[in-house]
Amino acid sequence: MDMLTVDNINVYYGAIHAIKGISLSVEKGGITTLIGSNGAGKSTTLHTISGLLKPKTGTITFEGQDITGKPAHRIVGMGLSQVPEGRHVFANMTVMENLELGAYLRTDKEEINKDLTDVFTKFPRLLERKDQIAGTLSGGEQQMLAMGRALMSRPKLILLDEPSMGLAPLLVQEIFNIIKEINDSGTTVLLVEQNARMALSIADKAYVGNREHHPRRDRQGTADKRSRAESVFGRLIRKRPENN
Ligand SMILES: Nc1ncnc2c1ncn2[C@@H]1O[C@H](COP(=O)(O)OP(=O)(O)OP(=O)(O)O)[C@@H](O)[C@H]1O
Ligand SMILES: [Mg+2]
Repeated sequence: MDMLTVDNINVYYGAIHAIKGISLSVEKGGITTLIGSNGAGKSTTLHTISGLLKPKTGTITFEGQDITGKPAHRIVGMGLSQVPEGRHVFANMTVMENLELGAYLRTDKEEINKDLTDVFTKFPRLLERKDQIAGTLSGGEQQMLAMGRALMSRPKLILLDEPSMGLAPLLVQEIFNIIKEINDSGTTVLLVEQNARMALSIADKAYVGNREHHPRRDRQGTADKRSRAESVFGRLIRKRPENN
């Protein structure tokens, strides 16, 4: 069953048409990955799903409900949480405060504590550093914190934007193992990656995105700097057989 469906969305940054008619679907319980080159529109797609950007046209459906254009906090409240590219932790707050903020929409104290224990089990390094200021964590630790914070909202679907970026190979392996664990414990995953090999090794389904240049020219014939990216995430490149 599809948990998330993105149907033919078009997204603009001002005059720049960043996403041209992307469609994709994410099956409940699985790991779906979007692989694409720089500027293909992967982050824009995730921001649009999580409500940070509004598509001009097209629809996004999550668990049977139309969430197109809904505010981001409502989408988080429905169980869809994004780990943005480049970690984005609250640098001046402690590890613990960052994690608590992840649960800000929740009131179920006991369950929050359970999830906190769970995050610390997945990421023992965060427990060791719970009182450390997040901005002083290493890049890999900040990635763990960003993932931990998203998990604190107890998402049904987690969107991960290039979690392996800039990490040493051993840590990349560790992060991918944790993504699998998160999925095994019941959270559906939509993973954006440039590390195609790693992403395909854990994904049930993958979309590939290409970038095409369409430099617009002014009357003098000079190329417009704001070249437009065109995305074709629509091509399914790999799918595991069912019941595997
Ligand atoms: N805030 C913005 N204003 C204008 N254009 C933007 C903005 N953000 C992204 N773009 C443009 O939209 C296109 C898609 O960008 P996006 O960040 O979604 O790509 P990406 O696939 O995530 O790339 P990367 O792999 O480098 O992270 C690019 O051409 C980019 O320059
Ligand atoms: Mg990106």
